[in-house]
Amino acid sequence: MSTTTHHDLLIRGGTVIDGTKAPRFDADIAIQDGRIAAIGQLAGHTADRTIDAKGRIVAPGFIDSHTHDDQAVLSQADMSFKISQGVTTVIAGNCGISAAPLKRDMDLPMPLNLLDAPREERFTTFAAYLDALRKTPSAVNVAAMVGHSTLRAVTMGSLDREATPEEIAAMQALVEEALAAGAIGLSTGTFYPPAVKATTEEIIAVGKPLTAHQALYVTHMRDESSQVMESLEETFRIGRELGIPVVVSHHKVQNKPNFGRSAETLPFIRETMKKQTVCLDCYPYTAGSTMIRTDRGMIDGRVLIASSEPHPDMAGRDLGDIAKEWGVSDAEAAQRLQPGTAIYFLMDENDVQRILAFDDTMIGSDGIPVGEKPHPRLWGTFPRVLGHYSRDVGLFPLETAVWKMTGLTARNFGLQGRGTLKEGSHADVVIFDAATVRDAATYETPTQPAEGIAAVIVNGVVAWQNGAHSGARSGQVVTRTTSKETA
Ligand code: ZN
Ligand code: CU
Repeated sequence: MSTTTHHDLLIRGGTVIDGTKAPRFDADIAIQDGRIAAIGQLAGHTADRTIDAKGRIVAPGFIDSHTHDDQAVLSQADMSFKISQGVTTVIAGNCGISAAPLKRDMDLPMPLNLLDAPREERFTTFAAYLDALRKTPSAVNVAAMVGHSTLRAVTMGSLDREATPEEIAAMQALVEEALAAGAIGLSTGTFYPPAVKATTEEIIAVGKPLTAHQALYVTHMRDESSQVMESLEETFRIGRELGIPVVVSHHKVQNKPNFGRSAETLPFIRETMKKQTVCLDCYPYTAGSTMIRTDRGMIDGRVLIASSEPHPDMAGRDLGDIAKEWGVSDAEAAQRLQPGTAIYFLMDENDVQRILAFDDTMIGSDGIPVGEKPHPRLWGTFPRVLGHYSRDVGLFPLETAVWKMTGLTARNFGLQGRGTLKEGSHADVVIFDAATVRDAATYETPTQPAEGIAAVIVNGVVAWQNGAHSGARSGQVVTRTTSKETA
């Protein structure tokens, strides 16, 4: 405990869930200089500012393990869609897509163009991207990865083939630059057109620099449908050959014939975890969201258009209705709506629950911060797990829910000093009401802030309180600490 008894901020009378899965306990929390100064009965202590947390839960700020906030942290720096849920740290650069390195004189293919900035604001090096974030912080902390599809786009003349040895060497150099600048890993999205033709060998070769840095390999796998087991095998092989941890992003089994197959994938993941480090995350919805696609497997079920550059007025409408109105096939309508994003109802509730409840599953939103009608996960993921899945469905205790969005995530991504509440750790804190916390965002009205989130503190600064943003932008760039460095 610190020797001083006057602090910047005191959180009084709350019930602490500390992010380690340990049972809750009643305690005050003192914050000083962006860190937790003391936890306990702090009756004699004073502070410049006090928050009364009586009857509420005090937890570590949530870490969103899977985001596409790379540009949003600069262009929508208040990050209300995350802060309002209690999220204080985001992992960016997922699914093979990152904000850097890019060239100013190039056209970006889908889906990279969906998250693009104006050309003059593009970052040509990873260091320049992280510098910009340090110079103009957002409301949340950011840990960023470099995307393999982005590297392919800046390195290769055409993307419909495997990379040549020269192109692989060029991409390796860019991975090295990103890691040296502070990237925490490399992500791939072999499901997406820019990387479909990349072989396993190409990814292993491009990822070589990860080994020395003990950085992460994070993947939106090639196939989350009928070939999901083969995709897991490929992911594990890449991790084994590089000798690094892997993260299976937004784990799911999609399309009707595969419903129930999480009963196969999860035991396979569990078995493999005995031999190598495997992590996974999941969002709490049966619909996914990604770029507008025209392939049968994706548009066979219900498809809701989330955004469309040529037809912005179609956001929020069903693809089938638009196709009927235009007198064309669904595939033709989807093509006319590109580039844009859509919501696909492709999963089974039982699989979603089984994956969420799997002990090692982290919570990640996969929110896409674009347009007026985004998937509700952008605003609702974390309160939905706390309110709907933990409290109402009873899928796991609240302590477990919090751990899946804090301590587990910080451990997996190597975010030292975050994700648990203890003396000395960074003061990222969320205060919420366990009885009323709930997601208000729906498919119809997706940009509603959650209910029951009382206050959110980022590096000791109050960013959200009583349903309003304070305007604070106290987020930091977070880098990865490997077990080697801490040993
Ligand atoms: Zn993805
Ligand atoms: Cu993603």
